[in-house]
Amino acid sequence: MTIIFDGKKLRDKILNELRLKIANFDYSKRPRLDVILVGDDPASKIYVNNKRKFADKIGIRSYVHTFNNSVSEDAIIKKIKEFNEDKSVTAILVQLPLPEHINKYKVINAISPQKDVDGLTDYNKMKLYSGGTPFVYPCTPKGVIKILDENNIKIEGKHAVVIGRSDLVGRPLAQMLLNRNATVTVCHSKTESLSNITKTADILISAVGKKLIGENMIKSGCVVIDVGIFKDENDQTTGDVDFGKVKSNADFITPVPGGVGPMTIASLMSNTLELYNKSSRL
Ligand code: GUN
Repeated sequence: MTIIFDGKKLRDKILNELRLKIANFDYSKRPRLDVILVGDDPASKIYVNNKRKFADKIGIRSYVHTFNNSVSEDAIIKKIKEFNEDKSVTAILVQLPLPEHINKYKVINAISPQKDVDGLTDYNKMKLYSGGTPFVYPCTPKGVIKILDENNIKIEGKHAVVIGRSDLVGRPLAQMLLNRNATVTVCHSKTESLSNITKTADILISAVGKKLIGENMIKSGCVVIDVGIFKDENDQTTGDVDFGKVKSNADFITPVPGGVGPMTIASLMSNTLELYNKSSRL
């Protein structure tokens, strides 16, 4: 029997636990998440609204600061520096992607690592990539590891194949799996004979954003985690995996929507609380 993961159920369980913890703080001293949104990318607007909605639900104070597409890099960095100085701001997120004229690395690295809720600053990356402990782990990879742990899926010694090498998902996730003693293979757009590799995966994670994983590409009984999310030609939200065909051959699979996506939100909220707890102790 294939287990189909329910991301909303686990998200709600995690959010409820966070809500109960946050309820203990005075309102004015609650964790505070400030989100910077640049431009009018419709998907980013939806993601940001969703982040604010869930923050509100569990008692995190959240603010969205919107800039138009033509804003200068300096103006965004100035805002970030204000947040760095402001003790009431405990977490900062710059929604990606940013417009082309803005250097995202410069902007992200303006965030104080202690307030970097995405774990994307060089400081936090360096900690992760050297096997150390960042202030927090990037949200989607953290959500994927949580899915594996909550479902008692063994990572140590297993062959984990990650498809995609983005800063947000593929690279940090590969590193987190390696830190948990998986044998990790990272595949990408230039990988040759992809299916020969995916067929050897005990844990297959696809984070590409196009339909890629068919029924003949997996090993029977493996774990399939679909991080991809996009609209198909019929405007339906879908993932990288041909869910209908792959499902019966896997032991465990995450659907899209309703799989990894809700876990990213849960991780963001839990990172916000973690940064808050660490900041109170500084
Ligand atoms: N855009 C898409 N996903 C993410 C995310 O996890 N963090 C940020 N900052 N931007 C995103």
